[in-house]
Amino acid sequence: MNASTQTNLDALQQQAQVDIAAAADARAIEALRVDLLGKKGRVTDLLKQLGTMAPDARKAFGEQINRVKETLSGQLEARARAIADADLARRIASETIDVSLPGRGENAGGLHPVTRTIRRIEQIFNAMGFESVEGPEIEDDWHNFQALNIPESHPARAMQDTFYALNGARLLRTHTSPVQVRTMQARKPPIRIICPGRVYRVDFDRTHSPMFHQVEGLYVAENVGLADLKHDLQKFLSLFFERDAEAMFRPSYFPFVEPGADVHMRWGDRWLELLGCGVIHPNVLAAVGIDPERYSGYAFGMGVERLAMLRYGVDDLRLFFNNDLRFLEQFR
Ligand code: PHE
Repeated sequence: MNASTQTNLDALQQQAQVDIAAAADARAIEALRVDLLGKKGRVTDLLKQLGTMAPDARKAFGEQINRVKETLSGQLEARARAIADADLARRIASETIDVSLPGRGENAGGLHPVTRTIRRIEQIFNAMGFESVEGPEIEDDWHNFQALNIPESHPARAMQDTFYALNGARLLRTHTSPVQVRTMQARKPPIRIICPGRVYRVDFDRTHSPMFHQVEGLYVAENVGLADLKHDLQKFLSLFFERDAEAMFRPSYFPFVEPGADVHMRWGDRWLELLGCGVIHPNVLAAVGIDPERYSGYAFGMGVERLAMLRYGVDDLRLFFNNDLRFLEQFR
């Protein structure tokens, strides 16, 4: 080993230590490692020179180079760890969590405006002593029409065209009146119920949808008549619209009531048709096995979407069924 090789090794080690201390990030450290200890690195080069040396010089110098190699390798590793620690410390300092911020939370869901309206109608009538009853949406002709004094080929069927299956043996109910029929068959008066649910008709425009919702009501007992009907509906409308509702009963035809009426409510300077009602036709009571000489009753039916449109100021019924969140989110 000669003096100049020794000087080279010392100088290399000194410079390497300065460079390692100055390395600013993991990439600089890696570059230094390759430059010093890599396959073509400077320390490796020195090792390759060993072959040209005399045997005893080779041994001493070889040991020296290996020591330098180990030292540098340890220093590289220590510097790399220091850099990583400093990075982590910096990240922890900069990514602190502000625990005073409000949480992001989950989006709160909301009830569909039609559901809200049904519940509102139910709440009012339940408090007035009417029990909610549900029934099948797929009906037969007898429950949907015949029991309601609408025989086959009666022209009133044209008012409620619907969807038939099995050659007319089954149909999608056009109103929830068949639930009233089923309930009257199964119970004895006094009966005081409302029937909320989906109904179907062949209609589709700004104020009609082939599927919509109804709440129909019924009260059968001794001596129930038009005065009870007017009183109870008047009370319902005032509670539903939260004001003194001015209602007008205008004679109208439904096969299952006599007399029958459409109820209109004053809305600004107009009268809006809201629902149908009447005193139950004796034929209907007889059809469900209730003695029309002893009992009488009233019935009414209202469209839920219509009430929801008025209450929330919605001008197109189809909005209720488009599932557009911009619309629905307004009812959360
Ligand atoms: N069932 C009627 C309809 O759907 C509504 C109604 C019920 C009318 C009771 C009068 C009496 O059109």
